[in-house]
Amino acid sequence: MNEKDTVLVFGATGNIGPHTVSRLLDKGVDTRVLVLENDPNLGRIPEGAEVFYGDLADPDSLDASLEGVTSVFLMWPFFTLGVETAPDVVKKIKNHTERIVFVSSIGVHIGLEPVDNNCHAYLEELIEKEGMEWTFLQTTGFCCNAVTAWADQIRSGDTLSFPYGAAARSPIHEEDLAEVAARALTEKGHAGQRYVVTGPEALSQIEQMQIISEALGRELTWVDVPHETVREAMVAGGWPEAYADGALEYFAMLVDEPEKVTGTVERVLGKPPRDFREWAFDNAHKFR
Ligand SMILES: NC(=O)c1ccc[n+]([C@@H]2O[C@H](COP(=O)([O-])OP(=O)(O)OC[C@H]3O[C@@H](n4cnc5c(N)ncnc54)[C@H](OP(=O)(O)O)[C@@H]3O)[C@@H](O)[C@H]2O)c1
Repeated sequence: MNEKDTVLVFGATGNIGPHTVSRLLDKGVDTRVLVLENDPNLGRIPEGAEVFYGDLADPDSLDASLEGVTSVFLMWPFFTLGVETAPDVVKKIKNHTERIVFVSSIGVHIGLEPVDNNCHAYLEELIEKEGMEWTFLQTTGFCCNAVTAWADQIRSGDTLSFPYGAAARSPIHEEDLAEVAARALTEKGHAGQRYVVTGPEALSQIEQMQIISEALGRELTWVDVPHETVREAMVAGGWPEAYADGALEYFAMLVDEPEKVTGTVERVLGKPPRDFREWAFDNAHKFR
């Protein structure tokens, strides 16, 4: 760590941001967070971070938080915010610092980005063009996606209805992704790297459910829901059609071609990635 490191973290109330903030604070880094005013999730920000209020939709609102930073952890909330302001946000960041770590997606790595209309690829391109020292974390799905997607059903019954149970992903533990990010934000040697960050093994969704079942000590049964039924529900629930199609096509593909497993976490951190079992036993309370 450099004595003068000051890092700004976006998404500090989300899935990865709070862990990244904690890792940085553990390293003794001056850590700032940029959050929306009146954000209902402010309680998720670890104590010790300096809080700035602003909005990625309003690039000028970021000025105060960027003053004097040495690196920025950026994620873009694609589901709730378009990319119209992304060019100005990236320019602002470049005006204040040389180093940026961006949470991208494995979809860019495998050339399958219709999943999100090329949003991650678009951000990567913008950042690269600005000529900063960048590191892109081209990540697989997070372990905690299981909470977002499945917890309500598991809490209320023993059946889990979801599409493509045989689709195999290599989910990344949030703590591992955050540790990789914290290294890239504060150490030399990560500039210009597209890190394809994955968990240690590909597990079908049914296998993931069975591990959660063991952690809960309760039998769960998978029910495969047809593609079209799920698509309709996703779109009715607010998913843009292109996102819904992309996500479902990707899952269909993973039935025959399990998601890649890389050694990135071990190479960067010098220790193997945490597995889904560890995550599930640590987070079982979220399904109770
Ligand atoms: N989830 C995955 O499996 C996955 C896989 C690959 C890549 N990624 C990427 O990883 C990143 C995190 O994804 P996630 O789905 O887990 O989301 P998340 O961490 O919940 O991220 C959303 C964060 O952005 C904040 N936010 C929302 N609108 C904002 C705005 N206008 N200005 C500033 N901050 C705003 C949210 O605040 P509040 O919610 O508190 O309002 C929250 O902290 C994203 O870039 C995503 O594309 C995710």
